[in-house]
Amino acid sequence: EPTLTRSVSESGFISKMKSGGRNIVVFYGSQTGTAEEFAARLAKEATRYGMKAMVADPEECDMEELSKLTEIENSMAIFCVATYGEGDPTDNAQEFYEWLQNGGSDLTGLRYSVFALGNKTYEHYNKMGIYLDGKLEELGATRVYELGLGDDDANIEEDFITWKEKFWTSVCEQFDLQTGEEVSSRQYELITYDEIANEKIFHGEVARLNSYVNQKAPFDTKNPFLSPVLVNRNLYNSDRSCLHIELGLKDSKLRYEAGDHVAVYPKNDTSLVERIGQLLEFDLNKVFALKNLDDDSSKKHPFPCPTTYRTALMFYTDITSTPRTHVLKEISEYTTNEEDKAFLKKISSSTDEGKQLYSDWVIKNCRSIVHILEDLPSVKPPLDHLLELLPRLQPRYYSISSSPKLHPDSVHVTAVVVEYETSTNRVNKGVATNWLKDKIPSNNGHKVLAPIFIRRSQFRLPAKPQTPVIMIGPGTGLAPFRGFIQERWHLKQNDKPVGDTILYFGCRKKSEDYLYEEELTQYVSNGTLTKLYTAFSRDQEHKIYVTHLLKQNMKEIWNIIGEKDGHIYVCGDARNMAREVKEIIIETIMTEGGKSRADAEAYLKRMESQRRYSADVWS
Ligand code: FAD
Ligand code: 2AM
Repeated sequence: EPTLTRSVSESGFISKMKSGGRNIVVFYGSQTGTAEEFAARLAKEATRYGMKAMVADPEECDMEELSKLTEIENSMAIFCVATYGEGDPTDNAQEFYEWLQNGGSDLTGLRYSVFALGNKTYEHYNKMGIYLDGKLEELGATRVYELGLGDDDANIEEDFITWKEKFWTSVCEQFDLQTGEEVSSRQYELITYDEIANEKIFHGEVARLNSYVNQKAPFDTKNPFLSPVLVNRNLYNSDRSCLHIELGLKDSKLRYEAGDHVAVYPKNDTSLVERIGQLLEFDLNKVFALKNLDDDSSKKHPFPCPTTYRTALMFYTDITSTPRTHVLKEISEYTTNEEDKAFLKKISSSTDEGKQLYSDWVIKNCRSIVHILEDLPSVKPPLDHLLELLPRLQPRYYSISSSPKLHPDSVHVTAVVVEYETSTNRVNKGVATNWLKDKIPSNNGHKVLAPIFIRRSQFRLPAKPQTPVIMIGPGTGLAPFRGFIQERWHLKQNDKPVGDTILYFGCRKKSEDYLYEEELTQYVSNGTLTKLYTAFSRDQEHKIYVTHLLKQNMKEIWNIIGEKDGHIYVCGDARNMAREVKEIIIETIMTEGGKSRADAEAYLKRMESQRRYSADVWS
């Protein structure tokens, strides 16, 4: 029976490398698949230099074996590691990170290199990669090439290809290797089915076949719960939309706390899927499977197979973001138009001209694979090859905007619908928010369902209700605070003493995008919210942001944190907002607390480690 579960390696990675004649292992710390994709590209490229590589998930490996890698001649370990959230390792690198923090082991002689994946709008930019690179050296390992820093806020693809070119040059020198021909080899074998029973093919399930027909707890990332959409309404009075969605949890045994995240598995836009079928002249009803040609790989299929081409495009592949250069390089093989071929080869090359072209034509113009196939109609890759190259469609996370005290049987989501026009006059629509937008519950008894799971977070109200809190949440950054406020209101209802609860909210215009205005006003009147500061950025000539209000209120802020041991929370998607807030808090500690900058920074660090200063930010 086809499944996607990864077999836990019976023997360690060293013996697997030895038996397969491999000398490079590429580990990835990946949350959304980018680091894993980069690792796979490096492993594939190793062949070009006469090396043989294997991709490995640190979670599935005994990382202590790293010290034994030197038993293999000309060996090396490469790490592609992402930094997640507030400077945290990805889930699959958590254990490895702990092992390193607890001292690791002697890695003398191990040759290694690290490429870090991060985002500059976050404060702890590439913290994991930087830590790993330094720690390995400290343990005696030898750096083959300097740490690479990828910035997902700018052009991480360019950072990566620039780094890897220099990396390979350095490897060739140190290992005395020759550069061979560039190889474009398939990683997966195509299997087609003429006749196959419907219940034997995947229909969008994340991992287990028929899991959407036979729902079985426990529900998690690999086994999402089909949650009924109970409420779906628009919170804005403008040309933009912000969804308020309530997702049912009844009978799921799913529990949550205010501050947790809910993830949804979306579906791509049907018209885009059909467009790809048309452009590539493929029958999307055909059933197929992609099977890894490398038997040693723990990843047997790129996504659940067998399935139809339509399902693969609809549920399993990312067809809307900008494709990476290697995709463009590989599809250049599928055109007889020399001009288009040369264009794709140039745009995917790591020359300065190529990188500039990629940045302009793909990134700046927000061209998806659909746009590229439209704009270069002579290029017709076989759909199965394209599906092998495209990244997997990812679940989207949302800060839950409710409290289980008030809503034990549902989680609320507050999400702005993403829609924007590109410079090629196309309208790009965010996958999850546009899919959610149409999930309108009906009253004919037919449930409208969304696959979800819940992810625990560290974003929590203080243990003691009396502890005062300051919450800073412009835009949808208000989401988790709606949950926090509900929680405190519930406590008050039960006659518990509740400390100061102060909210800073900001949006563009009071009359347009002031989220939950009525609720917030009510919480002020019933005393749950002791203070509500609002910043409407576009209601007057000059911008007013929550940060401006914070600057005016330094005395009050210091009173809460310095004198009453209160907590500060920051949440939102406003670019750079979290960093600016932090700077203001440091200034507050200096001015009002009478501390030097160094002491103020140390003071804030301590607040962070005591979880008295927490951020939940996304970009
Ligand atoms: P996608 O299809 O993923 O498209 C979004 C992408 O489009 C962007 O990444 C960007 O590359 C591009 N893009 C968007 N606008 C433009 C533009 N104007 N010009 C060019 N490119 C553009 N979102 C909320 O609304 N509410 C929340 O409470 C919330 N909580 C979150 C909590 C966490 C922990 C995380 C990680 C994210 C959270 N998000 C939240 C963001 C959310 O997960 C999604 O990223 C968001 O809803 C967009 O998803 P989408 O599938 O609709 O858009
Ligand atoms: P603007 O879009 O008018 O610039 C929610 O997105 C609100 O946050 C909007 O009013 C937005 O203002 C504002 N905002 C944008 N950047 C910000 C920043 N750096 N700090 C605080 N608020 C910001």
